[in-house]
Amino acid sequence: MATVGIIGSGNAGANTAFFIAEKGIANVLLHDVREGLSTGKALDLMEAAPVRTYRTKITGTDSLHEVLRSPIIVISAGLVRKPDMKREELFDDNVAVIRELAGALKVRKDDVKVIIVTEPVDLLTTVFALESGLPREAVLGLGGLLDSTRLRYAVARDLDVSAEDVSALVVGRHNEEMMGLPRYCTVSGVPVLNFMLPEQYESIMDETRKAGDFIAGMAGRSTAYYAPSAAVAELVDAMVRDTRRLLTVSLLLQGEYDVENVAMSVPGVVGREGVLRVHLPRLQESELEQFRKSARKMKDFLERRAG
Ligand code: 2OP
Repeated sequence: MATVGIIGSGNAGANTAFFIAEKGIANVLLHDVREGLSTGKALDLMEAAPVRTYRTKITGTDSLHEVLRSPIIVISAGLVRKPDMKREELFDDNVAVIRELAGALKVRKDDVKVIIVTEPVDLLTTVFALESGLPREAVLGLGGLLDSTRLRYAVARDLDVSAEDVSALVVGRHNEEMMGLPRYCTVSGVPVLNFMLPEQYESIMDETRKAGDFIAGMAGRSTAYYAPSAAVAELVDAMVRDTRRLLTVSLLLQGEYDVENVAMSVPGVVGREGVLRVHLPRLQESELEQFRKSARKMKDFLERRAG
């Protein structure tokens, strides 16, 4: 069975291990900079196995070197936001660990795949993809998939239908600039605006945009991690089983919508090799402008940091 390495064994990392185990996707090797933490979390998770009936193995290690040998690596290390903080405010704290890991994985000649969860995810996915030199299809940031999942939930709740039947697409940034396109949101194939007014959809989209802030504000001491972990486990599943699902991931863009060298969420076919192909939805002129404006803002941010 494949092994997935998870760097950062806090709430997001540990829950990702749990969801991977429950779905029987892969064995998991957890790591954390705080010595012993991953070993303790792994033991706790394995002690649930007899009742939850998973057969996958979860192990903890203090050796970064060991976890870096995994074929699929999830990076969920770093600080999380306090209430009222913007994701971008974490950049200066979290970029160091991303740079260190990009440097460490540069030397790997085999086909490692990396999923970035650490915030601000689009900016850090950009830095990681550019500095590691890994092929862009091997570096996936968690963004649009989480936002689409949140949107699906809220649409299903408002319409009182099963969330399984709701399909949604959120592209662009994983922040307040995310773009949830109503004509690509359907309930069993029927466009959502057949069932609700545009104002109701916009209010749901507003809730989706603010979901991460709302949860951080309510929880006080942590940011969201159940939905983020579920989305990461879905990505890992698509890679391990080579399912070729069309999932929205933050990917280093190379000309998509005329954007270059920043990572933003677009739908991609996810399989063993990572993102096999990008399937771009057609955007209207105003949406294209909004997408490119977000890209320019990211570039300006990164250029200011580069100094
Ligand atoms: C969120 O959207 C943690 O940024 C993450 O909840």
